[in-house]
Parts: sequence; structure tokens; C-alpha cells
Amino acid sequence: MNSRSLSNRKVLLIVGGGIAAYKALELVRLIAKAGGETRVILTEAGAEFVTPLSLAALSGHPVRSGLFHPDDETSMGHIELSRWADLVVVAPATAGLIAKAANGLADDLASTTLIATDKRVLMAPAMNVRMWLHPAVQANVARLKGFEGFHGVAVVGPDEGEMACGEYGAGRMAEPAAILEAIEGLLAAAGRPLKGRRAVVTAGPTFEPIDPVRGLTNRSSGKQGYAIAAALAELGAEVTLVSGPTGLNAPAGVKRVDVESALEMQAATRTALPADIAVLSAAVADWRVDTIAGGKIKKGPGGPPTLALIENPDILAGIAAPGPDRPALVIGFAAETSDLEANARAKLSRKGCDWIVANDVSEGVFGAEGNAVLLISADGTEAWPHQSKTAVARTLAARIAEHFKDPA
Ligand code: C5P
Repeated sequence: MNSRSLSNRKVLLIVGGGIAAYKALELVRLIAKAGGETRVILTEAGAEFVTPLSLAALSGHPVRSGLFHPDDETSMGHIELSRWADLVVVAPATAGLIAKAANGLADDLASTTLIATDKRVLMAPAMNVRMWLHPAVQANVARLKGFEGFHGVAVVGPDEGEMACGEYGAGRMAEPAAILEAIEGLLAAAGRPLKGRRAVVTAGPTFEPIDPVRGLTNRSSGKQGYAIAAALAELGAEVTLVSGPTGLNAPAGVKRVDVESALEMQAATRTALPADIAVLSAAVADWRVDTIAGGKIKKGPGGPPTLALIENPDILAGIAAPGPDRPALVIGFAAETSDLEANARAKLSRKGCDWIVANDVSEGVFGAEGNAVLLISADGTEAWPHQSKTAVARTLAARIAEHFKDPA
């Protein structure tokens, strides 16, 4: 791993009460050095071994201890803290903390957070060898490892060696460098579930030329499609973004191919295949001008010109059609002004795609920051609450990752 292996990753560190708590200071330092950010919860017992001030100084953030501290709960409460984190680390994990987590006991900030979190948890146990080998502790650890839906709690250490109490055996907390390595491994796997997958995303409007200076276009901003490309890339996918004219910057880590017309968009989308995932969110013009004038059409005594239109190809239907290059998951969009669900469901079967993201555009979604959508598939319909386009994109990317983890 390189020295910035945790760039922008967020670790919520719970420091329990044990002599190994002093090693948590080094761990916070190592996480910062690797580019990560740490927020610390210090248990009451932990505060007997290490001061909140040291942890606050190293993490750069106030340290939380109490469940009922009004300031803490109004700034970033225990639920928010666990949502904020990419990973929750318990170091040292005492026999008491392990027992609470294994049995769902939530009676202080640390144990409540462990029950409230939806993130993976890494525990670094530290205790006397006899405690570690006690069947109750072993049973609790086995239980934590086996929890479903949390992918199992991960455990690093304990190491064997001389203990602070003078005994010898297993129970020493893993060294901070080993805990850091475990954090890197878990975040690499947990944070990039689409690694190795290829995706093509279309976004923005198309521009159908009439002559060298004029054209037909629409009000699509491209924001939703760009956000989806970014969210898929964040999860590790290799993304090609085929974009009509927008004023947006290419998201980090995404390959952007600029196009104007529907025909160009179709060609670029096909070129991006093979792909595992296709998310076609562009607002493609339904028609183009049959014959594009070679020079600027002039005003004249004959009155306004008549533009003959012909239909554009349906890029989505073409990509979704059965064939060797068909992506495993093809997702289309439906912008409707009435009968949202029925119209979108009809579109799902007409276009042959797997999912449709449907939104009601009667109240002006184009260019807006937020979006309320339905996700429609053969399995049913889900209504997502109104949220930012970035949040819609992240939710969709997470659902795509789930689909590939566990194909129905
Ligand atoms: O038929 P309608 O335009 O409402 O369908 C919208 C969906 O189809 C979107 O996913 C859009 O990107 C896609 N589409 C397409 N090519 C077209 C028209 C729409 O890919 N010519």
C-alpha cells in the first residue's frame, strides 16, 4: 500500500479501556499519515488510560465520550457519526465491549454506536490471555464474526507475547501498523465493490444540427448522469461517460467522450462496449433534421424554411437488445409528466432494459439539484425520497453494486 492509501477515507475509532489504549494514539497518527480522517469515541474506561486531549490533538477533532452530551448530539450524534464513517474500528476492543457488541447491549456511546452503524466493524482485541481464552469471549468473537448483513465483524490480532500484567500468551493488541493494514484491506474491498467492472453512462442533451450555426436541443443539464458516472467510479468501476454538450467538468477518474448528435452518441456508446453496466440517462433528441444544410440557411423572400425531421435511433433499445455485447445490467431513464409508474413500466418492456429510473418532470427537474425517483424493475417498484442528484446517483450505484454481488 502506498503512503496515501487511505486518502479521504473516514475511520470512526472507538477506544476501549485497556492498557493498550496508548497504542490508539499511534494508530490515529498512522491513519492521518495515510491520508485518512479519524473521529474518536473514548469509553469511560478508555479515558482512564489515555486522555481525550491527546486523541483530540492527533485526530484534529473533539473526542466523544457520553451518549447524552447535548453538544455532541447536536453537532454529530452517534447515528450521524456512524453514517459518516467508512469503517468503524474498535482498538483496544476489551472483553466488555466485545460482549456488548455480540449481544446487542447498548448502554453507552461506544456500544450504542456499534449497534447503530451500517458500516463494517474491525475489532482489535486486547486483554489478559486467560480472559481472551475464556469460552465466553471466544463465543462472543465467533458470534460477531458470523453476523450476517454486516459481512461479519473483522478481527485483527490479538498477538502473542509478554503482557503488561507479566503473563505470556495471546491477548496483546495487534500493533498499530498491523491494524492500519487491516483497515486498508477492508476499505479497499468494502469501498470499491465495482472494481473490475466496466460501465458506460450517457448524459446531457443531444444537439441536432440544422445548419453550421443552428440546431435542435433540449434543457437537460447532464447533472444526474454526471453524478451517476462519478458514483460508479467512486465504487471502483471503470467508467466511460458519453456526454452531450453540457457546461460540466468530467468527474474524477471518469473517461469522458464528448458528442453532439444522437448518431454520435450512439456510435460512442457502442464503442465503449463491452461493458457490464450501461446507464443511459441522456435526453436524446427524438428527431434530427433529415438534411443538414451545408451553409447557414438565409432569410429570404420564400419565408421560413421547412425542416424535414427523421427519427433518431433509440440508443437504449439498441444497447438493451439481446446480443453478445449486451451489458449484464442496462438501465434507462424515464422522464414523465403523468402516470409515472405505468408509463415507465411500459418503457421498461418496450426498450428491453433491466431497470428504469423514473421521475416526474412536471415540476421542473431539468437543471435542478434534487430529484425524486422511482426505481422500476421486473422485481417491483421502489420509491426513493426526494434527495440531491448526487444522493440519487450514490443510491443507484450502491444498488448496482448489490446486484453484481448477489445477482438475482
Ligand atoms: O423514450 P424516452 O425518450 O422517454 O426514453 C428515455 C430513455 O431512453 C432514456 O434512458 C434515454 O437515455 C433513452 N433514449 C435513448 N435514445 C433515444 C431516446 C431515448 O437512448 N433516441
